[in-house]
Amino acid sequence: MTAIGNDRTPNLSRSNSRRGSGSFSTPSGTQVVYHTRTQDELHEYPHPEKKTMADHLRKYEALLTVSAPRMRMIVSAFEETLDKGLEKYGEVVVIPTYVFGWPTGKEKGEYLAVDLGGTNLRVCLVTLQGEGKFEVTQTKYRLTEEQKQEDGEKLFDFCAECLHSFICDNLGRDENADHLPLGFTFSYPCEQKRIDHGELIRWTKGFGNPGVEGHDVGELFAKSLEKYNVRAKLTALINDTTGTLIASNYVDPNTRIACIFGTGCNAAYMETAGSIPKIGEMGLADDQLMAINCEWGAFDSFDHQHLPRTKYDIIIDESSNKVGEQAFEKMIAGLYLGEIFRLILCELIDQGDLFLGQNTYKLEKAYAFDTAFLSLMESDPTDELLMSIGIFNHFFGVETTIEERQFFRELAKLIGTRSARLSACGIAAIVSKKGYLEKGCSVGADGSLYSKYPGFAKRLEQALVDIFGEAGKKITTHAAEDGSGVGSAIIAAMTVKRKADGIYADY
Ligand code: GLC
Repeated sequence: MTAIGNDRTPNLSRSNSRRGSGSFSTPSGTQVVYHTRTQDELHEYPHPEKKTMADHLRKYEALLTVSAPRMRMIVSAFEETLDKGLEKYGEVVVIPTYVFGWPTGKEKGEYLAVDLGGTNLRVCLVTLQGEGKFEVTQTKYRLTEEQKQEDGEKLFDFCAECLHSFICDNLGRDENADHLPLGFTFSYPCEQKRIDHGELIRWTKGFGNPGVEGHDVGELFAKSLEKYNVRAKLTALINDTTGTLIASNYVDPNTRIACIFGTGCNAAYMETAGSIPKIGEMGLADDQLMAINCEWGAFDSFDHQHLPRTKYDIIIDESSNKVGEQAFEKMIAGLYLGEIFRLILCELIDQGDLFLGQNTYKLEKAYAFDTAFLSLMESDPTDELLMSIGIFNHFFGVETTIEERQFFRELAKLIGTRSARLSACGIAAIVSKKGYLEKGCSVGADGSLYSKYPGFAKRLEQALVDIFGEAGKKITTHAAEDGSGVGSAIIAAMTVKRKADGIYADY
């Protein structure tokens, strides 16, 4: 039995540590006695049916490989989903952001930015100097697991307090200083009806703070800002993808799409109002531009018709706090890749094909295997794969053979490649919907998977070629500008100007 979630983790208290015989008790209290073979015995008595690591690899290769035809099918389902989401409010969440068009590149001034990300809280002062130039002063705070689950009000109070001390201590402004415009990057699906308000539809990325879903996040944060007398005026509530889209376009006007491949995954692009029927009542001109937050992590959620989910994806889903939701994200994002790897290891352990006789309890803890380990294993330059020796020994207390380590590296590759190929399907859907293939375009990408996982970007671009043929080479990805800092400031600047000019001032 493999541990799949904290609340369901069976108490496998093994009375024996490494090799030989021992016993453990199952969750129902039954004592199970086991006898294991030593490596030496294995050499003495070969077992013809015993599968080799290469046999296992073939099985996982078949399960985790996404072929080109399969990708094309996913792309077309993706495109349909985007259309549905733009058509009407309801089950498919595709979000008009009230960011009206591209920046001019001339935006200037001082803006505050707060970014409540999946892992950190970041507060910044961004000075836009025009012509694609800027300066950023920032402080980061690590969010604890408790903070991701505590009452929503407390979480927003924490953000407000951090911003308050940043303004007073780091910027040296006093408690009576003018209110600076503030862009708040809140990267969770919020249904927006104007730029500084948005109702949280549902938490993603493992957050679960009560009192926020179904409420206006702009209002909740504004209340906390007031409570702590923070000299900041909430001007724009933005998603990290929208910020990335605008920031990347500010420095590279060829940018048409922005993606985040980090703890979560998502994308934004620029749409014309005529293609967003659900905001028809605003009466915008058909060619008026508005940025769209795709919330593509939710693609194929609930009815699971299009994605090649494996049993490991299903276990991750069913042991998560949001069963059925974020189906695409759970196969792609940094929060989950290490867990997919760990679940496969646990399967092999349970079958008696891995770490026989070793004490594997550390590996049996849900989410114990960080996605960063996958990228470390993949980038190990040594023949002996010393990095894997270190990871398994130091963090999990198990010894590995070279065959096992080679298998781990290949398995990491399969999981990382599947993530990149599925991600490419989302990009391809936007490219195809917007007809960007002919001229080509630049995709600004950010997040730890994109920036730190070896080969992720290459695999993404290869997958685009597999989908579109040679023409796919015209879609290039680039490390994006800091969307939640610089992007958020540019959007705040665009909003201040738009409102001052009386353009769609109610939005
Ligand atoms: C999750 C959020 C989305 C965000 C993405 C990347 O998918 O729902 O809003 O953009 O993570 O951070």
